[in-house]
Amino acid sequence: NTMLWQVSGTAPQAGELAEAADLLREGGTVAFPTETVYGLGADARRTEAVERIFTAKGRPSDNPLIVHIADAAQLAELTLPLAAEAAALAERLMARFWPGPLTLVLPVKPGAVSPRVTAGLETVAVRMPAHPVALRLIAESGCPLAAPSANRSGRPSPTLASHVRDDLSGRIDGIVDGGAAGVGLESTVVEIVDGDSVRILRPGGVTAEALREVAAHVVYDAVAAPGAGTGESEGEGEGSSAADAAAPRSPGMKYAHYAPQGLMQLVKGEQDAVSAYIQAETVAARARGERTGVLAFAEHAARYDADCVLVVGSLAQLETAAYGLYGALREFDARGVQRIWAETCPEHGIGHALMNRLAKAAGHAVVRV
Ligand code: TXA
Ligand code: MG
Repeated sequence: NTMLWQVSGTAPQAGELAEAADLLREGGTVAFPTETVYGLGADARRTEAVERIFTAKGRPSDNPLIVHIADAAQLAELTLPLAAEAAALAERLMARFWPGPLTLVLPVKPGAVSPRVTAGLETVAVRMPAHPVALRLIAESGCPLAAPSANRSGRPSPTLASHVRDDLSGRIDGIVDGGAAGVGLESTVVEIVDGDSVRILRPGGVTAEALREVAAHVVYDAVAAPGAGTGESEGEGEGSSAADAAAPRSPGMKYAHYAPQGLMQLVKGEQDAVSAYIQAETVAARARGERTGVLAFAEHAARYDADCVLVVGSLAQLETAAYGLYGALREFDARGVQRIWAETCPEHGIGHALMNRLAKAAGHAVVRV
């Protein structure tokens, strides 16, 4: 059975996390909040513990996991030293973004984590989450925690403990409820290339603009470039070849993620044309007896009268939309919506990660009006 602990999301008390930490030390699986989304943790060093994560999620075994640490000293136990220039860049990235939503892909120290964590790669993805509950749980358990998002594979990532319960109750040992996650989208996954550059493998909570303040160059893996998911790739240099697109460097990027049960389409173009198109399509679909949904920015939601109009957040404050996306996708499912039309936003800042996830959720179905 799945234990549930309610703890303070800002200042967890000593002892509140003791049972959860014990379960992790014994090889169990415990979901916990981070500043991005809820994660499902297990001791990254123990194969039988890590296997419980894959089983609970129904996750493909070739998709490696991120290892979460609470203290920079843990990094030396997990990874091999980098060459001087790359090491200096890694130091700057960690100093600027840790704890926080940046995952670094680094050479793994042989034997440091279960081969199930790395899916046989010679690298391991590591991050230090900026959430007091996550940090305290990692520290109290004494384990580096392998932790993918705590959803059933293919479902939207959980931003609330109730989402974890809906997906994984009875399949994991415990859930630490520390309230709402922060960013609402997963971390940015990067690797260091050519010593002074970073390559974004998955866009996320740390924007390309912020990375440029620390790295000489920021390039994208083809699948992670702005526009890659919505048919307007701006892939830079080496990242944009068709061969790269066929084999994303972050294995998870190839899976159809986050999909709601309804059929979703993104609508791009000048706003009045977008609104007119969506309104006409929903009216027609309703006439056919379909249950319709619209995912709109707050600024335009009043323009629609589908069965279910959900506000993802504000266009003027895209952080609110990043936070609102996964909850809205789950809400369409809860309301049995069969056809969904979604507005889009410019792909810079957090808008890049937002459109990356939305395009995935729509199976890259995009219409230009
Ligand atoms: O914000 C997050 O990163 C959340 C929270 C819980 O920390 N975790 C998360 O984990 O999103 P997950 O498993 O859903 O996504 C991990 C991503 C996948 O795309 C995976 O392919 C990639 O990281 N990844 C893991 N190890 C890798 C490696 N060695 N090389 C390249 N990509 C890797
Ligand atoms: Mg995930």
